[in-house]
Amino acid sequence: MRRKLVAGNWKMFGSVARNASLVRGLLDGLTDTPAEVAVFPPALYLQQVVGLVAGRPVLVGAQDLSPFAEGAYTGDIAGGMIKDAGARLVLVGHSERRHGHGESDALVAEKFCAAQAAGLTPVLCLGETLAERDADQTEQVLGRQFDAVLNRAGAAAMADAVLAYEPVWAIGTGRTASPEQAEEAHLFLRSRMASHDAMIASSLRILYGGSVKASNAEAIFAKPNVDGGLIGGASLVSGDFLAIIAAAS
Ligand code: 13P
Repeated sequence: MRRKLVAGNWKMFGSVARNASLVRGLLDGLTDTPAEVAVFPPALYLQQVVGLVAGRPVLVGAQDLSPFAEGAYTGDIAGGMIKDAGARLVLVGHSERRHGHGESDALVAEKFCAAQAAGLTPVLCLGETLAERDADQTEQVLGRQFDAVLNRAGAAAMADAVLAYEPVWAIGTGRTASPEQAEEAHLFLRSRMASHDAMIASSLRILYGGSVKASNAEAIFAKPNVDGGLIGGASLVSGDFLAIIAAAS
């Protein structure tokens, strides 16, 4: 049985004061839940948030990392630093990095490997644009993005990783994929994994992300191949995030 994971990607939102109040609201409302919960604050606040959730069942992750372990890379943050700050997870290949910062499939694969080398669990984000979906290229794009990492890291590396299917057209648009569209993409990814390793495929968690709200979470999470969600906007309001966590329980 795969344990559901509900993760909040805060993107570039927050401040010392706002983080404290958001985490307080989350912890106050968090009851015993079978789902795993994680938050991804901006890197500058990782240590603060790790401190705030200490002793509570909330994992902390970063939103990006350098493909390099250390060196003269001004402005970049290494996986080892993220780990040193007390975080356990890191997003790689978020569409806002792929499309906003021109990250290639090859760079995402390097970052995936750098995350694991640093002892972090990578959450590999994949997803097609609207033009690609309209051109019936969804599976081709997901296959290409996934294969780049499988070929570089090896199939066994997926035993300690999480996938997040995030159709670009559903991110921050209020237009969520239907539960059926999500299930179809997740099933495709799991089958792709199974063609390498059936055991890993059956335990691999695949999250859905893109305009998940309290009102649509339950229907999406009910699909057999959807193992939780990667939540943007709704994770910035503790009541909304708690309702989504409850939908995964
Ligand atoms: P929204 O939930 O705001 O659409 O963002 C999804 C996302 O990009 C999570 O990584």
